[in-house]
Amino acid sequence: MVTQYIYGVPVETFAVVKEVAHGTELPCFSWEKNMTFTCPLGKEDMVYGLGETMRGINKRGARYISFNYDDFRHRDDMPSMYGSHNFIVVDGEKTFGAFFDTPAKVVFDIDSAGNGLLSVACESSDLRLYIVEGESAYSVVKEFLGIIGRSFLPPLWAFGYGQSRWGYKTARDISRVAAKHREAGIPLDYICLDIDYMDRYIDFTVHKRRFPKMAAYVKMMLEQGLHLVPIVDAGIKIEPGNAVYEEGVQKGYFCKNQDGRDFQAEVWPGMTHFPDFMRETVRAWFGSQYRFYTELGLEGFWNDMNEPAIFSTESRKKNAPPDAERGDPDQPGRHIADYKDFFHRLDDGRRISNYKVHNVYGAMMTKASGEGLEKLLDKRYLLFSRSSYIGAHRYGGIWTGDNESSWRMLRQNVYHMPSLNMCGFLYSGADTGGFGGNTSRELLLRWLAVSVFTPLMRNHSAIGTRKQECYRFRGTEDFQSIISLRYRLLPYLYSEYMKAALRQDMLIRPLAFDYPDDEKARRIEDQLMVGEGIMIAPILEKGVNGRIVYLPEPMTEVRYSGGSFTCMDVGAGERTAMAPLNTVVFYIRRGKLVPVGKAVSNTAEMDLLDVELLGSGTSYEQYVDDGSTKECSLDRCVVRRP
Ligand code: NOJ
Repeated sequence: MVTQYIYGVPVETFAVVKEVAHGTELPCFSWEKNMTFTCPLGKEDMVYGLGETMRGINKRGARYISFNYDDFRHRDDMPSMYGSHNFIVVDGEKTFGAFFDTPAKVVFDIDSAGNGLLSVACESSDLRLYIVEGESAYSVVKEFLGIIGRSFLPPLWAFGYGQSRWGYKTARDISRVAAKHREAGIPLDYICLDIDYMDRYIDFTVHKRRFPKMAAYVKMMLEQGLHLVPIVDAGIKIEPGNAVYEEGVQKGYFCKNQDGRDFQAEVWPGMTHFPDFMRETVRAWFGSQYRFYTELGLEGFWNDMNEPAIFSTESRKKNAPPDAERGDPDQPGRHIADYKDFFHRLDDGRRISNYKVHNVYGAMMTKASGEGLEKLLDKRYLLFSRSSYIGAHRYGGIWTGDNESSWRMLRQNVYHMPSLNMCGFLYSGADTGGFGGNTSRELLLRWLAVSVFTPLMRNHSAIGTRKQECYRFRGTEDFQSIISLRYRLLPYLYSEYMKAALRQDMLIRPLAFDYPDDEKARRIEDQLMVGEGIMIAPILEKGVNGRIVYLPEPMTEVRYSGGSFTCMDVGAGERTAMAPLNTVVFYIRRGKLVPVGKAVSNTAEMDLLDVELLGSGTSYEQYVDDGSTKECSLDRCVVRRP
C-alpha cells in the first residue's frame, strides 16, 4: 500500500503516474523542523535504494546527497552522482519504503554516525512524500515500481554489444572500428558517435567533412547490422545562423538569468543557452528537433551534460574557487552558485531558480527526447541519459557516467545495478572497461563478464586514455568468447528484461530479495540475481583465477568458454569456482530454465526462437517479438519445454 503526504506546493516532477491515496498522520518518520525526517533504525536493519549512489547495496553507514553532479573523478565516497533517485527501503524491525519526491537538494544520512539514526533533510519545504508498505523489501519495491510506471522498452538491438570512444572523429574511424570487430569475429550491434561527429559540438548538426554523406552512411552501416548512436548535449550553442538557437531565443524557450536575459553557460561548443525543459512547450519543441537525426535514419541516442554540466558562466567570477575551497566538504569541485543564477518558468507560472529544481533537469531532457522520438518513429528507439530522476526511467535508460578503469569501479558497477532497478532504471550499465584511466586486458575481460548481464553493454573510454576496443588486445578470442556469450544468452536476457518491465518488476536483484530468510544471502553484495533463473558471482579482483561463491540453494553451475556451455549440478553452501580469464561462470536456480540461442554476429541475425534450454526446470515462459514493435505485451510470451 502506498500513501502520499503533501507539504507546501510541490513542483511537478512526473515521477509518480498512478493515483495514490492521501494520508494525514505520517507513519515511520518523525518530522522535525526544517523538513528533516528522522527514524530510528534497528541494529540489524538494512537500507536499500538510492539508485545511482556510491558504496554498497546496503546504504547504511554513510551520507548521500541528491544534487546532480558531473564529477569525472569517481570515488567510492563521492556523495552525489549524475542522477537523484530519492527512494529508500528500510528492511528490518520495520519494513517500509519512502520516496522523497522533490527536485531540490536532499541529504540522506543513513546512520553515518553509527548511532542508529536515519535522517532525511529536504532543502525545499514543497514536496511529496510517499510511504510504501509491504511485507518484504522486495514487495515494497514492487509496490513502488507500480506507481512510477513502466520502464523504458528498448529495441532488441540495444541489448547487443556497443563500442564507443570519445575520440572517434570521422566516418573512416567508425568504419575501421566496425571492420576490426568483424575481422576478429566479435559481435557488434552499435557504435556510438561522441561529440566529434558534430559541427563544432553543435547539437542537431553533422560535421560535413567528417561525415560527408551521413544518411547514406547510416544506411550502409544498418545493412551491415550496425546502428550509429549519436550523443546530444543539453546546451544549445549561441551562434547566429544556428536555427535551433535562433528559434529558441525568438520563442523565449531558454532559461533566464537574474535580469531576464537568456542565461549563458560555457560547455563543449563554447557559450550556450539551456532549454527550459521544465515547460511542456519547450520539451515538445526540443523533442521535435530529433527529426534532424531520424531523417538521417538514426534510431538511438545518448543525452549528455544534462545535470546540466557547466564549465563556466558569464557571471562566475574569474578563478572563483569551487565550493570545497569555501569550506563545504560535500561539494568538492563544484560551483553551486551557478545553479542559483539561472531560472525556469514552470507551467504553473512560477519563476524558480535551477538550484531549486536542479535534480529534474536531465530527466526533463530525457522526457522531451523520449516523447519526441515516440512521435517521430514508428518503432522502439534507444535512448540513455547521463542525468536522471525517477520518472525518466519511462523514457530511456541511463549509463553511470565517467567511471575509471579500476577494480573498485567494476565492483561499484555490480552494486549500482540492483539499486537502479529498485528505482525503475532497468536499462542501465557502466562504461565497460572504465572511462578514465588506462584499462588492462584482465580488467576489461572481467568487466565484460559482468556487462554480459547488464542491459546496456557498452565499451566506452575517454580521449587520451589507452584505447580499449577488444581487438587491440592479445588473445582476441577470449574477448570474442565472452561477448558471444551475451548473444547466446539474449533469448533469456531480452525475455527477462521485457517481462520485468511489463510486470513493473526488477530485472537485477540483490540475493536478499530472493532469499530474505537466509542471513548469509542477505549480506552478500557481490553476487546478483539476473531475471528469474540466473545468479551471477563475478570476479571483481585483480590477479585471481576464481572466487568463493555462496549458493543459497542447490543450482546448476554453468561455465562458458570457447563457445560452449558445460553444466554441473552443485549443492547449496559455499564453493570455490575457478574461472580463468576466458571463462564465465554463472548459476541457474533449481527448477528454472534458461534458453540460449546460436552464436551470431549481431541481433539482426538472431532467431529468438531457435534455442536450447539449460537448467533443471520443466518450462520457461519466453517473451518473443520482432525486436522493434511498439505493441509489447505479456501476450507475446510462449511456453518452452525441454
Ligand atoms: C562526458 C560523458 O560522460 C562522456 O561519456 C563523453 O565521452 C564526454 N562527455 C564527451 O562527450
